[in-house]
Parts: sequence; structure tokens; C-alpha cells
Amino acid sequence: MQRLPEPFRIKMVEPIKVTTKIERTKYLKDAGYNPFLLRSEHIYIDLLTDSGTGSMSHNQWGALMMGDEAYAGSRSFYKMQKAVADIFDLNNMIPTHQGRGAEQVLFPTLNEYLKIENPVYISNYHFDTTAAHVELSGARAINCVVSNALNTTTYYKWKGNMDIKKLKATIKKEGAKNIAAIITTITCNNSGGQPVSMDNIKEIYKVAKQNKILVVMDSARCFENAYFIKQRDAKYKNKTIPAIVKEMFKNTDIMTMSSKKDAIVNIGGFVAFRNLSKLFALAQARCVPYEGFVTYGGLAGRDMEALAVGLHEGMDEDYLQYRIAQVQYLGEKLRENGVPVQYPIGGHAVFVDAKKMLSHIPVTQFPAHALACELYKESGVRGVEIGSLLMGRDPVTKEQKPSDFEFLRLTIPRRTYTNDHMDYIAKSLIKLNKNAKRIRGVEFTYEPETLRHFLAKFKPLK
Ligand code: F0G
Repeated sequence: MQRLPEPFRIKMVEPIKVTTKIERTKYLKDAGYNPFLLRSEHIYIDLLTDSGTGSMSHNQWGALMMGDEAYAGSRSFYKMQKAVADIFDLNNMIPTHQGRGAEQVLFPTLNEYLKIENPVYISNYHFDTTAAHVELSGARAINCVVSNALNTTTYYKWKGNMDIKKLKATIKKEGAKNIAAIITTITCNNSGGQPVSMDNIKEIYKVAKQNKILVVMDSARCFENAYFIKQRDAKYKNKTIPAIVKEMFKNTDIMTMSSKKDAIVNIGGFVAFRNLSKLFALAQARCVPYEGFVTYGGLAGRDMEALAVGLHEGMDEDYLQYRIAQVQYLGEKLRENGVPVQYPIGGHAVFVDAKKMLSHIPVTQFPAHALACELYKESGVRGVEIGSLLMGRDPVTKEQKPSDFEFLRLTIPRRTYTNDHMDYIAKSLIKLNKNAKRIRGVEFTYEPETLRHFLAKFKPLK
């Protein structure tokens, strides 16, 4: 088990506090047994998400001071535009407040541009906000991840890959003219932060072009994906991360990025196009009423400065090596001690297989969510369910959509917690695993219609 020392020193700290189990039991009850509704000050180690929760570097904090807050034509916008063009070779960029801002600008525009009556999007796996924005735009979202991803105990290098056979069959079934786009999510969040191979990225693009379909890269964790390609594909062993990233993005027409992940900022995102000037113009027109004028898209000038710096920092290989190793250190420790996890360990999080760990709780009682509640109560660590609860209901039939996974995601913010924190998390979960049979499921007392997991309330079952 590799325990790499952190490639940074700490210049500023934010105190965090361990509460007592009695206090946490009350906080959780008050939050309707939904960790999303807890106050951050009541949490010791927050593994809810790696999104916007990382620590910016001194260079990023320095860049904030350079923000040009002009409403239109901000200097900071041009810096961000240059960073995107230099790194990804995509020339037409619109900043947005975060990833879902990019999604809500892109999908309705794409449907309008392509004039498809009943559009369909195919992805290795749509992230929840991506699926929500696809559906809000009146389209359907279909996932085609490789079946190897579904077996959490067997090693497979590329559990984020698109199943090309399934992709081709879906295109045939739905009709190529009805497919608005193929979305390659790198890394694939929902299957466990798992990488997509370069061969697969190229194959997806080839199939798309044969069928005259546009490709969108959902790029929140694209640098982690590039690092996995370097580690796991011998052809890329001697290539630099920026070169791998360039090659990956040759195989797309459009990218969306929640920059709160691999660009290590607290807020920000963008959508970018390779040429496609007519579509770009339509997207710009949609950006104005929803996100703001096209040279800020919901961001302050200073946010765009930090983002431009973060895009380059996120590709630093020493950083990526430490980053991935820290997540693996936690994951391997859990695995060695009998906690079932998605294997191999992904890029941004350890995904605990709650279906295996809590096999006595039916999926209708959300085992991974029940585990998240118990983990918080036991240790003050907040994780998040990625399973049936997140998957939600079919927008038409209102039936629970079947979920391939019941994961408790322990998401590691970038450059934020130390390896000693990882030890504490592992110890807490290993202890829970020993008494897993005592954990009970939950049921709704309140269920919102869209993205229900954020605001739902529950009661624990007896
Ligand atoms: N795409 C992927 C793959 C994501 O993981 C996320 C967000 C988004 C798009 C949307 O971006 O949050 O900036 O609006 N994922 C976060 C998470 C929320 O916790 O995994 P956003």
C-alpha cells in the first residue's frame, strides 16, 4: 500500500472539530436523516463531494487579485479562453457558473440546433445533473457502460469504458438521426470514478462520426483520466499529461467541464466547442438570460483567473500521482480489512459496495444511504449515496429507475485532508463493517420530484 507524502506544505488551516455520538445522533435526526441537510460545522471529515471543496494553491489565491470585474470583455475571460484553447484545442468557449450551468446551456441549444423531435443522449454513464438536464430538455438519457463495471470485486482496468457493442445497438435501435449526442464522461463518476481508455475514447468518436453524431466530453475529472491512461496503457507511459489530454480531446466536438473538480476551484465551469460556430452562437444567446453575459457566464473575473491557473495545475504529474495515491491508500486499506469496495479504486473517491456490505437491506430501503447515516453517527465522517436514491424515478412512469450500483461514495477533496485523516476514515468504516448486520434501512418521509436526494427526508426503519 503506497503512502505518498503530500507534495505541498500547509500555509493556512481551517479548524475542524470532532463532536460526540450523542450530538451527532441529534444533528442527524434534525436533518431528516439526510446528510445533505447537516451543517458543515457538525462534520469532522467531509467526504460528500470533491466538487469545489479542494484547496487552492498560492498561485491561484494570487491570481484572484488579478480579476478584471468588467461586465463585458473582461481580461480574465480572455485568460481563461486561452487556457482552454491551449490545453484542449477547443476555440469557442463560454464560461458558466459550474458544470450544470454548462449542461443547461448546451442541451436545449443542441436539441434546437439539430431539430430532433424526440432526442436521445447516449453516455457511458450520465452523471445525475447531466441526466436531469437531458430530461429537462425533453430528451432521454441512455447509459452504455461496460458490464465489467458492474462486478465490483473483479479487477478491470477501464471500468469507465463505453460498451461499444451496446452503443452501436442503441444507435441502431433509436436511429442515428435521433441521437443528439454521445456523452463520454471522463472519468466515469457513477461507476466509481473509473477511467475510460484512450482506445475507447477513439472508438466512441469513430462510431459517432460514422453515424454523423456529435460527441460531448463531460470532462470534470479529465486530468485524473489522463493520469490513469499514462499508468495503465503502455503506449502512453512516456507521454506527458498535457500531451495525453490533447490526444483525448481530439476525439470530441464539444466539452463541458465542472471545473470544481480537476481545475481545483471552488466555483466555475464552461462549455467549449471546436468550431461549430452556428451552434456556439445559439449557445451564447442562451447563456445570456440564464448564466449571464458571454464573457463571464455567472463567474466573477477573479473566479476565471483562478480557474485558468487551476487548469494548468491540475495536470501537474507530481500532484496527480499524490492525489490518486491518497485515494488508493484509503481504498486498499478498506479492502484489506474486508470492506467491499469498487475495485480497482477510482480517481476521486472510494466507492463502498453497500449492496454487498448490507446485503440484508433491500435496495428499496437505500442501503448505501443508511450506511452514510451510520458512518456519520459513528465518526462524524460524511459520505454520500450513489445508488437507487440518486438514480430517482422515471420522469414518465414515475417508477424507481433500476440502479446498477448501491455505493457509499467517500469522495476525497483535493489537497485538503492528510493521510492521517484517511486512517481515521478507514478505522471508522472497518468498525462499522464488523457490526454491519445491526444497520437498518430507511424510508421517505418527504420525496421531492427532481434530484430528490438533495432535499429528501427519511426515517430509519425498525
Ligand atoms: N459531470 C460530472 C461527471 C460530475 O461529477 C458533476 C458533478 C457534474 C457534471 C456537474 O457539475 O456540480 O459543477 O454542476 N459532480 C459533483 C459530485 C456534484 O459530487 O460528483 P457541477
